[in-house]
Amino acid sequence: MNIGIIGAGLIGNKRANALPSTCKLTAVADLSNDRAHKLATAFGARAESSWAKLVSASDVDCVIVATTNDVIPDCAKAALKAGKHVLIEKPGGRFPDEVRSIADVAACSRGILRVGFNHRFHPGLQGAKKLLDSGVDGPLMYIRARYGHGARVGYEKEWRGNPKLGGGGELLDQGVHLIDLCRWVGGSFELQYGHAQTFFWDMPVEDNGFLILRSPDRKRSAFLHASCTEWKNLFDFEIFAKNAKIQIFGLGGSYGTEELRYYKMKPEMGPPDITVTPFPGADESWKLEFQAFLSEVDGRKTDIGRIEDAVRAIEIVFDVYRSSGYDMERAICNA
Ligand SMILES: NC(=O)c1ccc[n+]([C@@H]2O[C@H](COP(=O)([O-])OP(=O)(O)OC[C@H]3O[C@@H](n4cnc5c(N)ncnc54)[C@H](O)[C@@H]3O)[C@@H](O)[C@H]2O)c1
Repeated sequence: MNIGIIGAGLIGNKRANALPSTCKLTAVADLSNDRAHKLATAFGARAESSWAKLVSASDVDCVIVATTNDVIPDCAKAALKAGKHVLIEKPGGRFPDEVRSIADVAACSRGILRVGFNHRFHPGLQGAKKLLDSGVDGPLMYIRARYGHGARVGYEKEWRGNPKLGGGGELLDQGVHLIDLCRWVGGSFELQYGHAQTFFWDMPVEDNGFLILRSPDRKRSAFLHASCTEWKNLFDFEIFAKNAKIQIFGLGGSYGTEELRYYKMKPEMGPPDITVTPFPGADESWKLEFQAFLSEVDGRKTDIGRIEDAVRAIEIVFDVYRSSGYDMERAICNA
């Protein structure tokens, strides 16, 4: 399979490095010629002068879109219309209608469209979902999850602080992973209460989001916090079933060694039996996700994110914005 990558930033580079030997990177496009050339040269590919050229190139079968959120929808729709398979990065666009518009085009395209929610492919999360799905610990009761980082000097000037390029702040950035993981692990959720706030960074988007979600049958809940004032990077995802807590702590790198912690309640209650499985190796989630994408191209169903998942996640984020008084659509127009 010949691959084209649009967006040669952090994630475009990660995606290129995660390609299997059965794939060849043939073309790269980025607003920055330097970035496009650097990535293309490293893989023996060519740098295209624009994403429009890349999506119509005859030696590109699959397009990975890893740009800022503002460009993802146009690139994805053009690639689908050109008959390519497409993998887009989360959140898939700046606001719900943009992401829905990709779903509409995908519905009548030959190529398949999937969404990069790579956290699903972390070993701790894979293991946790298997444990929960096995049913040995009874049904899911609730999830409590936190995801955050401390950003860096000048963060508020980067694209994630600019609604025109990003569409939203921390909730749309790291928060969508938490929402997606809740839905992947626990099925349907609706917003019960949500609050977004800008505490620290001088930017028109939120730096913290707090959410309570509930399943439509009201049997399951989730309590989520995403933050870019976390100061010490943190990922903590706790799944509470009737007879056990399953916790994924850390994601590797600056988030600390990923661990799957299993707290198994005894029939007589009291302190649980605790098993800790560390995953000290490199982050393989990008490779595993792309393998899943290729399986989907071959017609096999996998854990990979679908456009419906991206639509639902961004709808929940925008429900929070509305309930917190953030008019992001207006901010996008005025930025
Ligand atoms: N799954 C994850 O954990 C994860 C992590 C980080 C980012 N992301 C997502 O990946 C995407 C990229 O994020 P990043 O951190 O790599 O950002 P980045 O700033 O490092 O890279 C984005 C690149 O897109 C390029 N770009 C912007 N407009 C373009 C256009 N019109 N044509 C061609 N190139 C264009 C920029 O020049 C830049 O090089 C975002 O959608 C982000 O939400 C996902």
